[in-house]
Order: sequence, then C-alpha cells, then structure tokens
Amino acid sequence: NSKRKKIYEGKAKILYEGPEPGTLIQYFKDDATAFNAQKKATLEGKGVINNRISEFVMSRLNGIGVTNHFIKRLNLREQLIREVEIIPLEVVCRNIVAGSLATRLGQEEGTPLPRSIIEFYYKKDELNDPMVTEEHITAFNWANTQEIDDILATTVRVNDYLCGMFGAVGITLVDFKIEFGRVWENDFSRVILADEISPDSCRLWDTATGEKMDKDRFRRDLGQVIENYTEVARRLGIMKDMP
Ligand code: C5P
Repeated sequence: NSKRKKIYEGKAKILYEGPEPGTLIQYFKDDATAFNAQKKATLEGKGVINNRISEFVMSRLNGIGVTNHFIKRLNLREQLIREVEIIPLEVVCRNIVAGSLATRLGQEEGTPLPRSIIEFYYKKDELNDPMVTEEHITAFNWANTQEIDDILATTVRVNDYLCGMFGAVGITLVDFKIEFGRVWENDFSRVILADEISPDSCRLWDTATGEKMDKDRFRRDLGQVIENYTEVARRLGIMKDMP
C-alpha cells in the first residue's frame, strides 16, 4: 500500500499506480469535503461504503454496455480501474430541482423537471468549477464535438438506468455528477465513464418520506451520514457481510 506510487490525491480518493500498465488503483478515503473543501470532516467508514456502492453501480452499468473504468474491487477501500486521460468536466444530470439549480435560479427544491437537464462544469478548484457550455468545451479543447455527443448519450443512459435501479428500492434519483476519461486504442480514442458513482456524487431521496440519503446530510449538517449511506447499500442488496 505505502510502497505503491501515488499518482494523484483528490479530496475523497487517491489514485495509485496499478499492477499492470494501463491500470490504476482507486483508494476511497473517509474524508468528506463540501463547498470546494471549505467544510471538511472524516466520516468513519464512508470510503468502505462508497467503494462497495460504486463497484455495484459501475458493474451494473458495464452489464448494460455502459463501458467504464471499473475492473474489480480489490479490498475494503480499493478497486482496480483502467487508467484514463481524464476529461476536465463534471457532468451533472438533474431530474428534480435541488442544490445549486435551486439557489442559482431561485427555483423551489423538489420541483420535478419536465425533462432531465444536463449541465457541464469545468473541473478547476481555483475557479470553483464554473458552469460551461459545449462552445467553451470545444473552444478550449477539453473535448471535441463527437466526445460531447458520446458523453451526452451515455449520461442519458446512466440516468435512465439509475432512476430505475434506485426507484426499484424506494429511492428517488434527484441528480448526480459523473466524469469521463479518454482511453486510447491504437490511434483511436474513445470516452468511457470514470471516477465513482456513490451517495457522495448523487442526490438520493427516500421516495416514501423524502428523507435525504446522500452527501447533503453532511453539507447541511443533518447528521446520520453513514447510517444513510449504509441504508442505500442495504436497499441495493450489497454489504450483507457488513454490520
Ligand atoms: O451542487 P449541485 O446542485 O450543482 O450538485 C449537483 C449534483 O452533482 C449533486 O448530486 C452533487 O452531489 C453532485 N456534485 C458532485 N461534485 C461536485 C459538484 C456536484 O458530486 N463537485
């Protein structure tokens, strides 16, 4: 663990050199940050739960043909992933008004959207991840038009699948953030889903009660963060081996 070369350390995860060329190890920390790291805490066990939830979701997506970086889970906190050239965008998909959409446009949280909204943010901490359009993305060569089309099509598929998957266990998928990376095969590249999908990157509301089961519990000091993440895992039928 300690002798492996660290490639990158983010707020909630660390990437280490993998066992094979073209692979990396993604390590899930217990650290939680919000508001661009202005709010910080350690939530005991969060990394373990997110590793499992992300494994579950990414495997399911692989199963329906949404190619992604996940290869296999290695242990409680680590998974083997394919190395990608990360595209510096956060792709947010929204089904119900919440969070920054509610604040920025003065709309009431909880209002269902007639059509899902997909937004792009430029991943740049110093700039607070500003929202950008396709024109900005192509102007600055963060992705080309074909890649943007692929990202949009994949995001719609991920949203449809996850709405059904969570819906089946009484959880409403309000919104989520995903990231993509480029993989090279000979002289050709394609974009695949990367990073993680977990209660840190999704808004998940209990369909019956409206209770928040995601990172907003941390952001808004609602308490019982781990209990809710664990409940998400339990409903998905994972971590049966955990207390
Ligand atoms: O804050 P906002 O309403 O824009 O977030 C939309 C969705 O994207 C939420 O599910 C949030 O958890 C996720 N997100 C994220 N990482 C960020 C920003 C937002 O996972 N840096």
